[in-house]
Amino acid sequence: MFEIGPIRLRPVEKEDMELVHKWENDFSLMLYSRGKPENMIPMESIIERYTEDRKNDRRRQYLIEHRESGKAMGTATIRIESWGNVRTGNIGTYLDKAYWNRGLGKVITLALLELSFYFMNLDKCEAYSIEYNKRAHKVLETCGFRRGGVHRKGAYVMGRTWNWYFFDILREEYMPAREKLIKSILGHQADEYLATTQVP
Ligand SMILES: CC(C)(COP(=O)(O)OP(=O)(O)OC[C@H]1O[C@@H](n2cnc3c(N)ncnc32)[C@H](O)[C@@H]1OP(=O)(O)O)[C@@H](O)C(=O)NCCC(=O)NCCS
Repeated sequence: MFEIGPIRLRPVEKEDMELVHKWENDFSLMLYSRGKPENMIPMESIIERYTEDRKNDRRRQYLIEHRESGKAMGTATIRIESWGNVRTGNIGTYLDKAYWNRGLGKVITLALLELSFYFMNLDKCEAYSIEYNKRAHKVLETCGFRRGGVHRKGAYVMGRTWNWYFFDILREEYMPAREKLIKSILGHQADEYLATTQVP
């Protein structure tokens, strides 16, 4: 379990497959998350992916829970890649629509950065996001990601093409900015979190 501010990240378990199936077939959620909302996923594929993930440590999917109520709110994923010998975490997340716009996306992104850099010693993190997903772009930029290249007209959704944007942040950019970012995102819960990230 990894607790940070109002949320807890824990491994996705077999019993969560119903929830993952519901979220990953929610048209309005996948419109933003995958840019392929019509590309529905049968339960069997979700279970296959879960089984594949158990065979190695490359794709880590966490269930996001609200610490106080224990409610499951969404998932967050780090896919570890090593193209060009640079250890990179490709991050992604989605939240049930009921929880959007409450500041949780920023906390989740911070959690993924902490796991990637402070715990896993990765060299960089990256994320892809479709052109119209302004909410996600704001969250990524607030957490220190920079918008880099554009995959032009790389998606066709709702009758037209859209660009994909690429965002990234380097370890050497994150580490010096870490404490300030934690304080600005977690507010009064920052000291509690920072204390848990020191070896006793
Ligand atoms: C993306 C997602 C994880 C963000 O989580 P969230 O809890 O809604 O985000 P937050 O509340 O932390 O922050 C949202 C920010 O976007 C801003 N925002 C919201 N709508 C916006 C818009 N249309 N244009 C610009 N900014 C917008 C908010 O004002 C807020 O910024 P602020 O805190 O500086 O004011 C969540 O909305 C989600 O699951 N979306 C669907 C799946 C998805 O898009 N996944 C990411 C794929 S890259």
